[in-house]
Amino acid sequence: MPAISPPRISKRTLDALAVQGKRILVRVDYNVPLDGQGVITDDTRIRETLPTLNFLLEKGAALILCAHLGRPKGRPDTDYSLQPVAKRLESLLRKNVQMAPDCIGEKVQDLARALKPGDLLLLENLRFHAEEEANDPAFAKALASLAEGFVQDAFGAVHRAHASTAGVPSILPSAAGLLLAKEIYYLSKVLENPERPFIAVLGGSKVSDKIEVIESLLNKVNALLIGGAMAYTFLKAQGLEMGNSRVEQDKLDVAKSLLKKAQDKHVQFFLPQDHLIVEQIDAKAPSKNTGDSNIPAGWTGVDIGPQTAKTYSTLLSKAKTVVWNGPMGIFEMPPFAAGTLAIAQALADITPRGAITIVGGGDSVAAVQQAHLADKLSHISTGGGASLEFLEGKTLPGIAALPDA
Ligand code: 3PG
Repeated sequence: MPAISPPRISKRTLDALAVQGKRILVRVDYNVPLDGQGVITDDTRIRETLPTLNFLLEKGAALILCAHLGRPKGRPDTDYSLQPVAKRLESLLRKNVQMAPDCIGEKVQDLARALKPGDLLLLENLRFHAEEEANDPAFAKALASLAEGFVQDAFGAVHRAHASTAGVPSILPSAAGLLLAKEIYYLSKVLENPERPFIAVLGGSKVSDKIEVIESLLNKVNALLIGGAMAYTFLKAQGLEMGNSRVEQDKLDVAKSLLKKAQDKHVQFFLPQDHLIVEQIDAKAPSKNTGDSNIPAGWTGVDIGPQTAKTYSTLLSKAKTVVWNGPMGIFEMPPFAAGTLAIAQALADITPRGAITIVGGGDSVAAVQQAHLADKLSHISTGGGASLEFLEGKTLPGIAALPDA
């Protein structure tokens, strides 16, 4: 018997799907980063699908995996082939993974029909066909015709209304995989019934990317802690000097109105009280702390300052639920990573004390991994855009398309 069972969610999960002796199409998110030589630099998304694949294999299914990689513009492009993923999956599963030459068509049909229970076939990049992103019904039908059941496990892609996310589940008996169920479970838990204090930490470069999530979270959280370059736009909106730091001039009014909403809703809205600044964005550039919220002319903010990191860590030490999306500074450059790493550590410290800690968004996830703290948090989301849209309260087409439990 498979060891893992899915958490309870409102959608049907894979344990309720008849899979024994059947060919099951599994939509996975294998949109992994590759270096210039086509080598996978982070295989988290592949590893995270292993519980679902093992579950289905142990139940006697034959698996046909489908995924996208990058944005190849609707035609075949070897730079976006899933071949390196097949190799990595093979070594992780210690099983043969057959690579299909395409994702639909006669040859693929033949390969699919020849599969035996326990076999795995990885289809070539779905986005080599423009019909995937257009959610073309004939393309969805061609994909569905390869299998007898469908498991959606590509949380990172469920905010897209594509053939493999929104189309196929209306044709085949379908269910959510273990990864998707876990993502829905944690993200719903914080939105529906969070233990308080509930704090959201938001960073990254642009306010414009986060307006909707801030609007949504203002109805849920007790406090918002802001870092990254987006903080400079909020501070500028309050009349402070930001030197050469990145400020979205056209979003100053939006920033003001979000600050006002936070006040009206009695949500504490924290902005950096000091900054790490440089004259040139270069890891070797001499840096200094501002000591207050202003940034002098000629200088650029690259991280929250030590006083802010301390204040944020103290606030987080009392939180029962935390959602974090976006780094506090240019953490890819080690001298500017202290603020981001302080947040990661604060979350790692409260998780064993029973707090629910959730991290989403590629950069903050990378920061947590860089700090080797990923296994110390409650949940690391595999979806960047998808986790943000979920927190914005939007309906995600790939989840909506699945049958209810
Ligand atoms: C992601 O990397 O966030 C997902 O795989 C979705 O990719 P997309 O933004 O190209 O649709």
